[in-house]
Formats: sequence, structure tokens, C-alpha cells
Amino acid sequence: MNILYDESSRTFHLYNDEISYIMIILPNGQMGQLYFGKKLHPGRDYSHLLEMIPRSMASYVFEGERTLSLEHVRQEYGVYGSSDYRFPAVEILQKNGSRISDFQYQSHRIQAGKPALPGLPATYTESDSEAMTLILTLLDPVTGVQLELLYTLFAQGGIIARSASFSNRGNEPLHLLKAMSLCLDLPDCSYDWIQFSGAWSRERHPRMHRLEEGIQSVGSMRGHSSHEHNPFLILKRPSADEFQGEAMGFSLIYSGNFLAQAEVDTHGTTRVLLGIHPEWFDWKLEPGESFQTPEAVMVYTSQGLNRLSQTFHRLYRTRLARGFWRDRERPVLINNWEATYFDFTEEKLLTLAKTAASAGIELFVLDDGWFGKRLSDRAGLGDWRANRDRLPNGISGLAEKIEALGMKLGLWFEPEMVNKDSSLYREHPDWILSVPGRNQSHGRYQHVLDFSRKEVVDAIFQMMSDILKDGKVSYVKWDMNRSITECWSAALPADRQGEVFHRYILGVYSLYERLNQAFPHVLFESCASGGGRFDPGLLYYAPQGWVSDDTDAIERLKIQYGTSYCYPVSCMGAHVSAIPNHQVGRNTPLNTRANVACFGTSGYELDLNRLSPEELEEIRAQVDFMKKWRKLLQFGTFYRLSSPFEGNTASWMTVNDSRTQAIVGWYRILNTPNPPYTRLRLTGLDPNRLYRVREDDRFLGEFYGDELMNAGLITSDSGSGEALEGRKASCDFESRIYVLE
Ligand code: DGJ
Repeated sequence: MNILYDESSRTFHLYNDEISYIMIILPNGQMGQLYFGKKLHPGRDYSHLLEMIPRSMASYVFEGERTLSLEHVRQEYGVYGSSDYRFPAVEILQKNGSRISDFQYQSHRIQAGKPALPGLPATYTESDSEAMTLILTLLDPVTGVQLELLYTLFAQGGIIARSASFSNRGNEPLHLLKAMSLCLDLPDCSYDWIQFSGAWSRERHPRMHRLEEGIQSVGSMRGHSSHEHNPFLILKRPSADEFQGEAMGFSLIYSGNFLAQAEVDTHGTTRVLLGIHPEWFDWKLEPGESFQTPEAVMVYTSQGLNRLSQTFHRLYRTRLARGFWRDRERPVLINNWEATYFDFTEEKLLTLAKTAASAGIELFVLDDGWFGKRLSDRAGLGDWRANRDRLPNGISGLAEKIEALGMKLGLWFEPEMVNKDSSLYREHPDWILSVPGRNQSHGRYQHVLDFSRKEVVDAIFQMMSDILKDGKVSYVKWDMNRSITECWSAALPADRQGEVFHRYILGVYSLYERLNQAFPHVLFESCASGGGRFDPGLLYYAPQGWVSDDTDAIERLKIQYGTSYCYPVSCMGAHVSAIPNHQVGRNTPLNTRANVACFGTSGYELDLNRLSPEELEEIRAQVDFMKKWRKLLQFGTFYRLSSPFEGNTASWMTVNDSRTQAIVGWYRILNTPNPPYTRLRLTGLDPNRLYRVREDDRFLGEFYGDELMNAGLITSDSGSGEALEGRKASCDFESRIYVLE
């Protein structure tokens, strides 16, 4: 890994064993982009990659000649209005009404390691040898705005983390209307665009189309990263697939409004932009003030989508997630939500906990309804004190009883929200986001607290720490169940209202940070009506997140498969729930529900006391399996093998670092009568190792890695209800787990 600057060609070359990233100082002093891709020879002059062909209708920078048209060169951080007509990375409204800026190279610094981004989640290093950072300092001479572009090159993997920081060094206040985290101009447009989209209960389904001339974008203006679109984008070569070919991933470490966009111009170049959504963004910069954008991570690979995902997984698992739980195997939990909803008493909870403990479950999570007057979703949010009618001995009393059963207690909070029917709202009606004189829209009968205000965050921190401080609660599920409307803060002047969405998220981060610091051993799980804020920003504070409110195993196949393109298995909360499933009414076999949930931070979410002794026995065995193999399941190298979006079967696998153990999950949606022979070609194994393969308790034989990867693992069965020897008759929604040692 190194970062080179060559004074004669005025080029920068960032490279490690996998990638090169090359930039040039353009003739007008702005920064130009030359190359991002597979590693090129260091020490060479690549300035010829800057092509400046005169074109009709172009506008040119220099009087009297036709060379530099910003529209026709690739830029590092594009500006609009001075010969570039593409969507820009930055827009600054100045006192005279102009929005043009001209950021010229001043100097640069190259340093070991990676600086932290104050108040923002970001990737980090544990030693200076893990990464190098280039900081380019640019200046707009007219406004005096200094722009620092940060590029951190990691030693391992094709990863560059980027962000931008603005300081107003002039004499006039300015308005930053657009400040993207990443702008990348690519020399061609021969890519498939993959976005991860959906809605509540069907989050992060991959959607792919060929890049076309014009704009393609996804984003969120809901105040959270959203169920609808994830702040993650892949561009892959049309010929690339899971196992080979070029691909780039772009991920924003942010939980608020975002925009991910690609613009293909009519000369076939592509501009990728990723950052805070500019709609409704207006950050006032007084002289002397600064603004730091969130971080965006870009990954390049020439080895297919699995490799791309594995690079993100490793980075986000080990250098974005933090704290005590980062590398620890996660407890198998039971959550009472789908077992009881709001209808519970302490006695009922303890009956459930007792059965869970007997099944080997380690953590009992008490979900919504334990506080204030929260008997339904119409009241109580904001009053984070135990409801003594339901829990006569409070949270500590309940925790002691749970601990006596050999389990730990976890607790649900929705810190950012308030019901109007609550003491908090009655005391502080002005603490919600709302516009004076206008209607206050609600979502799920609740309103959004103004987390841009420190006193609001302080009050919630106080109530939460009062519950957490006796150390009885070892896990917190942090929920968030509505999008923001009427985004206006009573604490800010008119010309700063465009800051509220971002300040809100900074408030969320600050509360998370304070809780992380105060309660370092508490395991946090993020949630937003399931996967409404499943983003890298929250992964920095909560090492796991509730993937979706849809707990149906077959729906989960798609959701977890799509989620895995960016996010590691160790952060995917996945539970076994009841049948008929509460979201889709589907009846799936108990083993399939567990076989999907075990590829995640697994748990249960059903009334165990309604199950038969045989089913409980099966759950005991599942919990044993999850505990025995969770290190491999949660922290192994994950591969997607076949997609539930493309056929009737889905499969994935995980392999340990020494390639001595692997677990394969195979899932068939509908049964097929009299099916053909089938084989599953595995991957990531050691070709020269002999693996003992078991399917449940059935020993299938010993096979070399080369056979399993090239000839494949035989998965045939007779279908049509005819059982093969030693195996149950096949059925719809069938699945198998293969363990290789
Ligand atoms: C939405 C979450 O996703 C559910 O798991 C549950 O916690 C409910 N909220 C509780 O209101």
C-alpha cells in the first residue's frame, strides 16, 4: 500500500495489492480523476489518461483556446456552472446569489492510519499500518471556502473511504446546498446498476438494470435511510457474476436522507454521486464554521460479487462495528413481540422465559409495552419507566427472575419517539418536530422528538440510563417506527431549518455514542419497523440490526440474500417465528425457519408454550446447533451460491478462515414432482482437503474440496412425496443444512 505524488505530472497514485486510484491536478487547478480499478504499475506517469478533445457546443475554461471543458473531463468533485453541465458534487449559495465555485488545489498531506470524523460514524483503523490517508486541500478563492477531500486507502481489500470537509474561511455567511461524500467519474458506462429496494417487510431486494444515458438514482427523503432504498449501490460489468468479473460497490455510512445517483452523459462517461440528499439540505456556514460530510466507502474487485460483498463484510464487521460485542458470538435470544404483542403480564413473560431457558436460549428480550401507559400503540412512548401494573418489581425485579432462570434480560426502546398521550409530551409539547400553525402528521399515532436539540437528547439519555445503570439489562433493541414529517425545529432560526434533517441524525448518533460509552457491555440491536434504517451508520453503534419485520422464512431468504450484498451475517437479526406466519400466513416447516435464521444473529419470536413436546425438542436441537456453530455462521466468509430471485432454490454457505469447516444452507421454495438430478457446486473450499459431509445427522461421505467445487454436492431427491432412504418425504419450503469438516 502506498500513496504517491509525482510533482512533474501533478498526479496522485493510491495503490495496494488489488487497486489503483489515480488523480491529476487539472490545468485550471481543480482536481481530475484518471483511474479507479485493478492495480496498475506504480511509479509510472498516467497523465495521458486525461483526454481533452475539443467538441462542438462545449464551453471552455481558458480564453482563446479549446482544450479544457469541464464537461468533458473526469473530475474528482464536480462543480456545475463553469463549463460542466452534469449534476455536481457541491453547490454553495453565496451572498450575491451565485452558486458557482472553483475549488483549486492548494496542498496535500499524506498520513498513516485514518482520522476520525467528529460526531459521525466511520470506518477506523486499529494500527497505522492498516491504512493511509490522503487529504487534498482545495480553496475557492472568491468565497474563501476551503474544501478538504479525504481518501483513506486500506492495506487489505480494494477499499477507499472518502469524505469531504468544508470550512468557511471567508468573511460572509454561505449556504451549503449540496455536499456529496463521493463523486466518481468513470470513463465508460458499460455497467449494470444494482440497487437494493423494497418496502416494509420486503426490504433490500436487489434490482438490476443496464446503465443508460441520463440520470438513474435512488434515495430517501424520509429522515431515515428507509425500507424503500438502501444507501448502497453496485455497478458491475454486464459479464460479471457472483464468482468472477469487475464490480464496484458504493456504500454511505449514514442513516438519514441520502442520494445515490449515476449520470451517464451522451459521450458515455458515468458520474457516480453518493451523499446526503440535497433536497431540503441547506447548511449555513458562518465565517469560521465547518461542515464534515458523512463517509462513503467504495470497493473495487475484479473477482465477482461475492468478493465485493466479502470485502464490505470484513471491513464493516471488524473496522466499522465496535466495542465489546464486535467479535463475540451473539446470544441466542427469545423476543416476546410476536408471542404476546402488547398483551402480557410479568407472569406470562416468565412462563415464556422458563420454556425458553429449558430450550437453551440465553437472552430474553422484552419488546414494546413495558413502560408508561403503553397498553397499545396509542400511548406511552417517551415515558421510559416501567409500568408497575405489569411489572410490579420493575425492570430490575424482572431481570432478577430472568437471571434466576439462567438467562439475561434485553429491553426494547424507541428513544426518538413520543405519543401525545404521554407525560413527556404533556410536559414538553414543543419537543416534537412540527411547523407552527400547521398540521402535525402522525405515524403509528406517534411523533418524532426533535433530536437536533441537545436538551431533548439529554432527557432521553437520562431516562434510559436510569433503567440501564444497575447493570441488569444486557441488550437494548432500539426501534424507530415512523418517517419524519413537518421537519422543523423550534430551536433553530429560519435560515437554519435546512439543517434539521442532518442535525436530527447527529442527535441520534450522539445518544447512541453516549449510551455506548456509559454501558460498554450492553449489546445494541438497531431496528426501524424492521429494516427501515439498516445502514452502515448504525452498525458503528449497534453491531446487529433487525433485518425485517417479515419473519417468514421464505421471504427472509430474499431479504437476507439481498442484505448480504453489503452487510455481514453477524449483523443480521433473524428469528424463528410461528406458523401461520404473521406477515404472510405461510406455513413453513420448523427446520426451514431455523435453517434460514441460523445465518444471522439468531433467535426465536413465538410462544414456545404453544408448541408440542416434539417441536420443543426440535428447538432444543436447533439452539444447540446455533451455539455450536455460531462462530462460523456469524463470522465465517459468506458466499451466495444460488439466488431466490432467479429460481426455485436458493443456497449460500460460510467457510472458516482455515477452510477446514463450512456450512451450506440449501432451500427449495416449492416442491417439484419427479425432479431432475441436482448438484450444488460449492466454493471457497480447499481443493486438496478431504471434507466429511453431514446433512443433519446423516453422514453423506468424504469428498475432496475439488470435487465439491467442480463436480458439486449431490442434492437430488425423488420429490413427489417419496422419501429417499433416511430422509423425510420432500415438501414445499424444504431446506437442508450441510456441515463440512
Ligand atoms: C417494530 C419492530 O420491528 C418489531 O420487531 C417490534 O419491536 C415492534 N416495532 C414493537 O412496536
